[in-house]
Amino acid sequence: MSKYFKVIILICFASWAMPDLYAQSYFADGLSPEFHKERREVLRKQLPANGAAIFFNNPVKNRSNDTEFTYRPNSDFFYLTGFREPNAALVIFQSPQMIGGKEVKEIIYVQPRDPLREQWDGERLGPEGVKEKLGFEHVYLNNEFLQSPEMDWNKVSPFLSMEMAAIEGGKHNEVLAGMVEKTSLLNIKAEVPRNNQLVNIMEKMRAVKTPEELEVLERAVVISGKAHIEAFRSIKPGVSERAIQGVHEFVHKAMGAEEVGYGSIVGAGNNATILHYVENHKTSLQEGLILMDVGAEYRGYSGDITRTVPIKGVFSEEEKAIYQIVLDALEAGIAACQPGSDFQAIDRAARRVVDEGLVKLGLVNEGEKHRFFPHGTGHHLGLDVHDRGGYGKLEPGMVLTVEPGIYIPEGSDVDPKWWGIGVRIEDNILITKEGNKNLSEFVPKTVEDIEATMKEEGVLQRLQVELE
Ligand code: GLY
Ligand code: MN
Ligand code: MN
Repeated sequence: MSKYFKVIILICFASWAMPDLYAQSYFADGLSPEFHKERREVLRKQLPANGAAIFFNNPVKNRSNDTEFTYRPNSDFFYLTGFREPNAALVIFQSPQMIGGKEVKEIIYVQPRDPLREQWDGERLGPEGVKEKLGFEHVYLNNEFLQSPEMDWNKVSPFLSMEMAAIEGGKHNEVLAGMVEKTSLLNIKAEVPRNNQLVNIMEKMRAVKTPEELEVLERAVVISGKAHIEAFRSIKPGVSERAIQGVHEFVHKAMGAEEVGYGSIVGAGNNATILHYVENHKTSLQEGLILMDVGAEYRGYSGDITRTVPIKGVFSEEEKAIYQIVLDALEAGIAACQPGSDFQAIDRAARRVVDEGLVKLGLVNEGEKHRFFPHGTGHHLGLDVHDRGGYGKLEPGMVLTVEPGIYIPEGSDVDPKWWGIGVRIEDNILITKEGNKNLSEFVPKTVEDIEATMKEEGVLQRLQVELE
């Protein structure tokens, strides 16, 4: 056993949709401080002997000039703390440190209260608020990072994550950059390669949701699903992609969701064949399919639902043929969502149905490699839409997406009658002890149910303002 403490430093930056510290509201119905505390304890027990884990919250990200992106905490940091402010760091010691006659297992460093900034940007908790609202005992200001409490930080021998290099500059990130810089005062072994140990621990923990997480996550799925149903009703010839995006996001907000879990994808016609199409700029839609991959973020957790429906409210023969293959593939994929079975079995089951269906329609030859289903069939879902989690055996408490698709872009080497058809159907599946539970089952997806729902009037038709 090393006489040194091993410090593993993890900085995770989401690649988009970040930050500004503004407007902190602590959700009355989100995860409890007890949840976060228990998660820290579970993590602590998995650290190597004398190890310490250090996490930093996300930086603020500048949008343009003096406007920032809405702040989104780092998911690992939020999972372990519930804290939603930048310029913060968390240290968890594997073996408690005796400091001032007290056992210290964990320390959180936060930004100070600042009445002037708070008038502009919203309330900060400050050390006292973090103690009171988040239940931390040892809270220090961020300018004391690795200096308080009084202990010999020099005995720390950390492993540095290469992700350190990813720190972005900018006026709002100086404090974070300063904290990270301070880690260089520790006894860092520069030759230590990127350390994935902490990532692996976090992956295992976050992949299996606790009952408290499931409650919040299921709410995110319900909100996302209800928004889809309202969008079905609002789609009539003449609408725009962006207006339909607005219907989804209006329902999210009206139901209390704070954000979308990822950039909303609303693509009509050939746009439905672009996997991560987020421009959503096509107007005056008249015919063809519209693919909607949209999910709400509720108390940090994201839904991830896709439905594809006909703009006219009725599927054409070709659209129906492709749609039915994808629907059958989805059901085959969901059937493969069983505890103890292999994650890859879901993809194999769905892909087999897609391949056979395409052969039957004469779109590909038996055994032919094709590009009509170019993505995997699913991923973990949670605080991140593509959540942390391994792709081995399925366990009760995991939540996955199953999302087969067929995309035939214009110009493809098939009869032009198939061009511009893009279909994806995506459900959110909880693995249970007995099998699985489809959390998004209530969102219509058979041809008949979709066509029936689309006959109803939606919020767009009831708007009082002229959309001109
Ligand atoms: N919404 C992105 C995905 O389905 O993976
Ligand atoms: Mn997905
Ligand atoms: Mn999706």
